[in-house]
Amino acid sequence: MKTVALGRTGIQVPVLAMGAASLGSIYHPVSQHQADETVAAALTHEVNYFDVAPYYGLTKAETALGIALKGVARKSYTLATKVGRYGDSQWDFSREATLRSVDESLARLGTDYIDIIQCHDVEYGDLRQVVEEALPTLRELQKSGVVRHVGITGYDLAFLEKLAIEQKVDTVMAYCTWTLQDRRLGAVARRLNQAGIGVLNASPLSMGLLTRSGAPAWHPAHQEVQNACRAVSDLCDREGTPISQVALQFALTTAAEQGIASTVIGTASQENMLDNVRWSDRPLDGALLEKIDALLAPVLNLGWDVLPGNGGKAQK
Ligand SMILES: NC(=O)c1ccc[n+]([C@@H]2O[C@H](COP(=O)([O-])OP(=O)(O)OC[C@H]3O[C@@H](n4cnc5c(N)ncnc54)[C@H](OP(=O)(O)O)[C@@H]3O)[C@@H](O)[C@H]2O)c1
Repeated sequence: MKTVALGRTGIQVPVLAMGAASLGSIYHPVSQHQADETVAAALTHEVNYFDVAPYYGLTKAETALGIALKGVARKSYTLATKVGRYGDSQWDFSREATLRSVDESLARLGTDYIDIIQCHDVEYGDLRQVVEEALPTLRELQKSGVVRHVGITGYDLAFLEKLAIEQKVDTVMAYCTWTLQDRRLGAVARRLNQAGIGVLNASPLSMGLLTRSGAPAWHPAHQEVQNACRAVSDLCDREGTPISQVALQFALTTAAEQGIASTVIGTASQENMLDNVRWSDRPLDGALLEKIDALLAPVLNLGWDVLPGNGGKAQK
């Protein structure tokens, strides 16, 4: 797998990374055996950046990832996890919670350091706590070597950009905003990248929206957006290419020009991980993309902040 520099962290990351939220059974029930197989398949193909969080499956994903990585040389992979979100509508960016969370993540992940520690879904938290407690606490932990780099994650791009620049964080992870259907991260990512901040594009399949099975029941996208994506999936099937293939290839082939270092895809299936690796080497079908663009034009960039859907899981 090709690697690129992640901002100024000094870390080379694979252009395709694995999101381990799915190991917390957030899309469908996942056994430890499936988690082991998926992680092993990723590592075989140098997909050796893993993103997780205590929130995913309420610690299940971190525990499963920790078990799957047992015995793998620690230096052979990059581990990113998060602090601050502990439930669908539960945030705590206090110093005490931050220290406790990092300790617990280390234990679950079976390691004594975390490469990238991120404040999770910052726009929902108490901004004062993020700035005055969580971030300074993480910088202290960075000095002691327990965490190596400090980042933030979220959906609200304006919020992320402002906070990232003001607080000089090392990385930003945004989700569902550089996809076939939503392309708003691009301009922001280019500016962050210019400022030396490593940018990660999470959820290139828009949390299942851009798959044949479609969005899960909790997905916040508006029905109109979901219907357009369903029409794209049907078109892709008629053309003999699954929508998830085009969606991943779109994200990967456009990442570098947007200043996006890595695309973080989630799967708890060995087979899908192998497909994702295979697709990452193949060219995007430009003619098919043109037809998709035409179908998606009426809903392009209509995220759930613009056109609210069913509300999703989080409530302010
Ligand atoms: N706020 C945040 O910090 C934030 C938010 C969202 C995401 N993230 C990170 O980004 C990662 C990825 O996001 P995500 O998993 O939510 O969304 P995603 O990668 O856009 O989509 C995941 C869905 O796509 C399916 N899938 C994956 N590969 C497939 C393939 N080849 N064919 C068909 N279906 C496929 C998965 O099902 P299977 O398991 O069956 O393959 C799962 O249902 C997360 O794990 C997390 O680490 C962070």
